[in-house]
Amino acid sequence: MLSFLAPVADLAAHGGETPAWAMLAYLVAGIFFILALRGLSSPATSRTGNRNSMIGMAIAVITTLVTHDIANILEIGVAILLGGIIGVTIARKIAMTAMPELVAGFHSLVGLAAVLVGWAAYLNPGAFGLLVGDSIGAVSKVEMGLGIAIGAITFSGSVIAFLKLSGKMSGSPIMLPARHVINLGTLVAIIVLTAMFAIASGPAETMPLIAAVTVLAFIIGFLLIIPIGGADMPVVVSMLNSYSGWAAAAMGFTLGNTAMIITGALVGSSGAILSYIMCRAMNRSFISVIAGGFGADDSSAGSGEAMEQRPYKQGSAADAAFMLEQAESVIIIPGYGMAVAQAQHALREMADLLEEKGVQVKYAIHPVAGRMPGHMNVLLAEASVEYDKVFELEDINSEFAQADVAFIIGANDVVNPAAKTDKSSPIYGMPVFDVDKAKQVFFIKRSMGGVGYAGVDNDVFYMDQTMMLLSDAKKMVEEIVKALD
Ligand code: TAP
Repeated sequence: MLSFLAPVADLAAHGGETPAWAMLAYLVAGIFFILALRGLSSPATSRTGNRNSMIGMAIAVITTLVTHDIANILEIGVAILLGGIIGVTIARKIAMTAMPELVAGFHSLVGLAAVLVGWAAYLNPGAFGLLVGDSIGAVSKVEMGLGIAIGAITFSGSVIAFLKLSGKMSGSPIMLPARHVINLGTLVAIIVLTAMFAIASGPAETMPLIAAVTVLAFIIGFLLIIPIGGADMPVVVSMLNSYSGWAAAAMGFTLGNTAMIITGALVGSSGAILSYIMCRAMNRSFISVIAGGFGADDSSAGSGEAMEQRPYKQGSAADAAFMLEQAESVIIIPGYGMAVAQAQHALREMADLLEEKGVQVKYAIHPVAGRMPGHMNVLLAEASVEYDKVFELEDINSEFAQADVAFIIGANDVVNPAAKTDKSSPIYGMPVFDVDKAKQVFFIKRSMGGVGYAGVDNDVFYMDQTMMLLSDAKKMVEEIVKALD
């Protein structure tokens, strides 16, 4: 017990299991989480959003510690300290490009925590206040079963997503024969076993059932993610984020913890909404993503060899600088390569110089440019690009027809017209920027052989009005800046 805080808890308690002040504190924490989500919806307010989530989490953790009998506060303190140190170290070290795999890795821990809490509650229901008479209530068992099942699916699914995103496992879809039947059968088995667990009594009957639910859920998480290819991974990561939220919410019911229910529901629904938005951005149906099979398929259109054989125009930084200076309007399309090269600061310098020369410069951001949602926005914000110059796909796409220059820096899939015209292309149906309508296109990438995430050739390289600027993005932009000065 946190003895030094006990008097506070006692004084404030209004009777019942959770004191009224604690319910209020959880509600306040929930409001901070909602404000956090609101803040995170724009780069301008995202720092405040993060701060709000930290305040909310501190309120929730302290309230939980104060209102519960804590067996060993030292162990909890050490765990929080260790977790904090690991979290801060990873957050400081991680490269922006590795963020999706980090998120997947962290989700796996949320899933595992839900499984462990569920099992702890099953093995020691008295400590969790779950006993009705001398057995666990049926409703508690349903919550427990669901929490464990969703947690286990989140865990194994996130581990596979982590392995695929970090390149430790092939990003190509792995198709099992009759996988839809196996998946559906396993899901039905989990639901039936959870129902049997809820009505069974005594450890001899319940233990094998909950163990079977756990094992099957671990397996289905694995089976659900292996057929999903690389290009759909962002949707999967946000879907797993959503699952981890629902697992936490289910555990919140088991533990009777309002803050956990609110937080879990917020994470669950925001993850689901983000998955939906990404699916729309790639013109994919959520069901077809989950059904798997799209993505880094090696057999997809275009190969490095074919690309080398088609004629293209190559230019230098001096050529680009000269033509950029003559332009009235330039639209910059950043992509993954800008992140790899860390070219955002040089790019901002280039835009400033052009603006000084009277050129209008805008930035066009595709919803799935880079490797994580908001990837480009974060990098441009880091380089202090004003937000009113940054436009979403649907707001700027019609402007390419009037633009003098489309300046593509490290983007590829998001400007590939095959998405509009080639039904056999793996990116077919994804809305893309109409860069082919601009009078002049500059395309920065390192070589003609390098392909984008989806691994497909891009007709924009070979258009009459395209000039390829083959170099590392940062180096090329720095040279353009020098030539503009
Ligand atoms: P990509 O299509 O992946 O193209 C990246 C381009 O950058 C390549 O053409 C590459 O060519 C070039 N590049 C790499 N390093 C470079 C460097 N140092 N300097 C200059 N160029 C460099 O990027 P995109 O257009 O941003 O499209 C994103 C893709 O990733 C989409 O298919 C999307 O579905 C997928 N995806 C998105 C997310 C999210 S949520 N944003 C997450 C995972 C996957 P070279 O090798 O020749 O240089």
